[in-house]
Amino acid sequence: MRDGAEPAGRRSVHPLAGPGAHLLVSGGAGFIGSCFVREVLGRRDGTRITVLDKLTYAGSEANLAAIRADPEQAGRFRFVRGDIANPADVDPLVETTDAVVNFAAESHVDRSILDPEAFLTTGVIGVHVLLEACRRATERAREGARSAPRYLQVSTDEVYGSVEQGRSWEGDPLAPRSPYSAAKAAGDMLVRSYVATYGLDALVTRGANTYGPHQHPEKLIPLFVTNAIDDQPLPLYGDGLQRRDWLHVADHAGAIEFVLRHGASGEIYNIPGSAEMTNRDVVTVLLERLGKPWSLVRTVADRPGHDRRYAMDGGKLAALGWQNRMPFEAGIAETVDWFRANEGWWRAIRSGDWDDYYARQYGARLAASTQAD
Ligand code: NAD
Ligand code: DAU
Repeated sequence: MRDGAEPAGRRSVHPLAGPGAHLLVSGGAGFIGSCFVREVLGRRDGTRITVLDKLTYAGSEANLAAIRADPEQAGRFRFVRGDIANPADVDPLVETTDAVVNFAAESHVDRSILDPEAFLTTGVIGVHVLLEACRRATERAREGARSAPRYLQVSTDEVYGSVEQGRSWEGDPLAPRSPYSAAKAAGDMLVRSYVATYGLDALVTRGANTYGPHQHPEKLIPLFVTNAIDDQPLPLYGDGLQRRDWLHVADHAGAIEFVLRHGASGEIYNIPGSAEMTNRDVVTVLLERLGKPWSLVRTVADRPGHDRRYAMDGGKLAALGWQNRMPFEAGIAETVDWFRANEGWWRAIRSGDWDDYYARQYGARLAASTQAD
């Protein structure tokens, strides 16, 4: 992998859209993956999609209900429940696909601190199983049996670690600091090795903190919106001055599709957000939109190893021709309103195992919390 040393403007168009094109989207029942699937099928250009998803606590077929309700889109869509770490689930699907877009991961940093194992199984073994299937399909393509599949690994700015100053660019060394980001960095390294060793047609995107409709309520924005709707305490870690760069989910999904079609093989592309903000400022915006008081906010014990700031340089993606479309103010208003209008969606998730998770993650923290100033 060339780590961004390649001229940023190099651009090719991969024939991965339109009648006959077939994408395998792993993790397509989750937050960003389902947005990607809805956007691509909703364009009605003939592209077909197979989703492979394990349906962990984070995945839900409800995220794809709009597709099933539309006969034209449903005809170009298939859902397979399965595990990317299981070759028996993966191999037959990769046989017939033009591209694999891998969203599948355990995605929550706090859960990786409580229970790291599943992060490694999916993030390392799972990525390896997908790459092996692509390697075999690429070898068959060289024998003339088919065209070689393209592989896109959806990664994260967290692989760069905490960025106290400046911005990360694609050639920076990786410095992950949580089990989640270490597993993601391992996935990126595996992709790099398969490009160099086997000549795989593969790319990596590294997206910023993403928000929007359908996000699991374990993450900051949906957790605080849904807690505030119920007048429950909002557990702000530490001083709340950590900084994140917020990216709307439709921009993240759109940029991934853009890189899939226009990115050069072997390259990494950062996908920055549109608004770098402290967590305190994000919470202020949420509470204003909801009409709820700051007194709901509680200062709780910090996340261990909490990364202080993420910020990426987006010059390479911009040179390829991509621009985010959704300003933070409009995106956050849409998101808050979506959660207000879709209580059934998130109340179903905040039941069952949710209470155990919430007690483990927040019970002692909230018991020892103080009113945030
Ligand atoms: P999510 O947790 O909402 O969805 C993950 C999906 O993957 C779920 O549908 C889950 O069922 C599925 N999955 C998990 N393990 C699987 C396995 N072994 N086999 C098949 N399916 C499996 O996650 P998300 O927020 O949509 O993130 C998607 C991807 O984007 C992840 O790879 C994540 O690391 C990356 N990312 C997320 C963000 C963000 O802010 N959410 C930002 C940058 C990158
Ligand atoms: O930056 C990209 C990453 O963004 C993705 O790779 C991850 O999959 C995604 O979960 C997200 O990671 P973060 O850890 O940044 O997101 P989270 O929503 O968990 O937290 C955002 C910030 O809010 C972070 O500084 C921790 C803080 N926070 C979070 C929760 C859940 C709180 O203060 N209180 C909370 O209860």
